[in-house]
Amino acid sequence: MRLVLLGPPGAGKGTQASAITKKYNIPHISTGDIFRLNIKEGTDLGKKAKEYMDKGLLVPDDIVVSIVKDRLTKDDCKDGFLLDGFPRTVNQADALDIELEKMGFKLDKVINIDVEKDELINRAIGRRICKKCGATYHVEFNPPKQSGKCDVCGEGLYQRDDDTEETVSRRIEVYLKETKPLIDYYTKKGIILNIDGKQSIEKVYEDIVKSLE
Ligand code: AP5
Ligand code: ZN
Repeated sequence: MRLVLLGPPGAGKGTQASAITKKYNIPHISTGDIFRLNIKEGTDLGKKAKEYMDKGLLVPDDIVVSIVKDRLTKDDCKDGFLLDGFPRTVNQADALDIELEKMGFKLDKVINIDVEKDELINRAIGRRICKKCGATYHVEFNPPKQSGKCDVCGEGLYQRDDDTEETVSRRIEVYLKETKPLIDYYTKKGIILNIDGKQSIEKVYEDIVKSLE
């Protein structure tokens, strides 16, 4: 299955992506995670991406597109993949179409998770992530069993630099201007699945699986 997860910042894309990729045994390709890994490792790409991410702005299309193109040619993508956080502009969506066509593939479905603005800010501000395995929690909506410690590996949790109220608000503005038009783009192609993201994590997952099957 070749899938895209679309939705505003904090909608629950990463949370659902983990469960979906496990169920369908496909790789989870998150452009945000790729940038964060590069920032952690201090690469040139990481330094460049951080300038944009800390301001809540999009990393330029040419940089993101070349990373995704490269990733899609890896062996584990032959039978499917889930793109999380890409495409994010019409330009990126066009580039993805062209690339997939060259590979003889096409997207099966685009899962659009919809959540209103106030809830997005609460979700992002309360998010905590495991330093080691990347598991995602929320201080109120999805707390770890032991405060500040990952349930999976026991490591400590951290807060993303771009999860401040100000930066999240900017990311939402950027989403409305640059990314929301993709809902129309994929609706016209007849491959969009609209999911109500303002339900429990389990219910959102259930709705996604139901609509895929
Ligand atoms: P990226 O990492 O993609 O961030 P994002 O799109 O802003 O999305 P988030 O990761 O913030 O949220 P999410 O939807 O994954 O929510 P999550 O599941 O964690 O991008 C970061 C930056 O990188 C961008 O700003 C940009 O600079 C750059 N970038 C990345 N891709 C790019 C691209 N293609 N082009 C250009 N630039 C790019 O959930 C959020 C919280 O809510 C968690 O705490 C979770 O536990 C909780 N939660 C989840 N679901 C529920 C629920 N149903 N009920 C209650 N709580 C829930
Ligand atoms: Zn962990």
